[in-house]
Amino acid sequence: MLSSPHTRGIRGAVTVEENTESAIVDAACRLTQAIIEQNELKQSEIACMLFTVTQDLDAAFPAAGARKAGLTQTALMCTNEIPVADSLEKCIRVLTLVSTDLKQEEIRHVYLGKAAALRPDWVDSAETEALPTTTPPFPTPSFRPTILDILPYQPGKPISELKRERDLNDVIKLASNENPLGPSPKALKAIKNVLNSLHIYPDGSCFELRQKLAQRFNVDGTQLLFGNGSDEVIKMFGLTFLESGDKVLFCEPTFSEYTYATKLMGASKHTAPLADYAFDLNALLKAIDSSTKLIFVCNPNNPTGAYLNHADVAKFLDKVPEHVLVVFDEAYYEYVTAEDFVDSLSFVREGRNVAVLRTFSKIYGLAGLRIGYGVAPKHIAELVHRVREPFNVNALAQIGALAALDDEDHVEQSRRQNQAGKEYLYRELADLNLEFIPTQANFIFFDLDQNAGLVFEKLLDKGIICRKGEVFGCPTWLRVTIGTETENRRFISALKTIL
Ligand SMILES: Cc1ncc(COP(=O)(O)O)c(C=O)c1O
Repeated sequence: MLSSPHTRGIRGAVTVEENTESAIVDAACRLTQAIIEQNELKQSEIACMLFTVTQDLDAAFPAAGARKAGLTQTALMCTNEIPVADSLEKCIRVLTLVSTDLKQEEIRHVYLGKAAALRPDWVDSAETEALPTTTPPFPTPSFRPTILDILPYQPGKPISELKRERDLNDVIKLASNENPLGPSPKALKAIKNVLNSLHIYPDGSCFELRQKLAQRFNVDGTQLLFGNGSDEVIKMFGLTFLESGDKVLFCEPTFSEYTYATKLMGASKHTAPLADYAFDLNALLKAIDSSTKLIFVCNPNNPTGAYLNHADVAKFLDKVPEHVLVVFDEAYYEYVTAEDFVDSLSFVREGRNVAVLRTFSKIYGLAGLRIGYGVAPKHIAELVHRVREPFNVNALAQIGALAALDDEDHVEQSRRQNQAGKEYLYRELADLNLEFIPTQANFIFFDLDQNAGLVFEKLLDKGIICRKGEVFGCPTWLRVTIGTETENRRFISALKTIL
């Protein structure tokens, strides 16, 4: 399912205004950053960078600029260029060797400033104009190099953007696993009633919601951790437990925020492939060592929808050593129908080093409000509470979530619609001879057995946004959110036309 990396060369060049140390270092730093950003490289994928400089630049080594850009571990070398007559003056060139999943044609060579004239065939004109052609007036302040390893989150394309881009009126989004029925009507009503109080700060402790969920889950109120989406709760676990040198374990492909929280803290991620499309608990056990701090387990897994059962998780937890915290991300829990699905809260109640994350973004239909939560034993929750920002969950989210919990009709209808949509999509995908993974969530991951990026683009042309498997390292796969009956039919009919 995953493609294997290749060694590729990335070329780049930049011109420098003057032969001074700061001008050379800044230019090399910008060039390095642009190569990393435009090719979305991780530091660990860069084998080495070989710089050459024209002989009129001798005030500094450009490698210092690459170090400034955060490449503290990478092998770097600088040498003089052959002084050919009429060649571009004050120029730094670089060849970067990388081990990457990018195809040759996806590699972006980077030519900044006057150096753009060297390879006009490799330069995107829109970008060249936008790039600074002179040294910025102030040097870049130093920053935490670890952030260069973080790729900004790539969300599904918003409906408004696709409408603008392709001049479409009727667009549907089946990309972000939102509830196609919309928000809980009870939540909407409750929110409308409090709009006049928006000048007041929210309840920083989410008191009412805390009480309600504590009662529902039979835990103490102090065991609940609320966040601006469960995304924030994931980050809070990183902020609480991780430091440089710590190891975080999980399987891939999975939800991207575990990587984000790990890299943000300068910790290192160690991943294993999935087993039967769900997390491989045995592989995770084998990878544990004395530096392991956190294990994230996405269950059901995004993007595959496959799940872990109670017996397997119980056996796994019995073998996890005491210095490791296991965080179960159950964002899709309310959609699960498998009877043997793990009761992870039972381990929290036992006081094990286990936390469970859930969200109001999925079945409750409140993704736009941003509210999620974690449940953990007191000794863990007490630590995580310390890193929470004051008022991190807004007032409307708290009121909406409280009402949504009581909106049984909405939850039931959402489950029924999801089940019907799932069965319909299973039938149609099977008719098209496409391999799909049975799901416990509100999305289906399926294999097109061809470049899914092209099919994705053609679906966009027809006003349908889904999620490219490429984002998860599976370039022949697509993930589609189970929509309303009309949306599912439109998706299948478009897919049939395209295939
Ligand atoms: C597995 C998983 N965890 C967490 C989240 C984030 O949810 P929230 O909207 O609560 O931040 C998502 C969102 O898609 C998800 O798929």
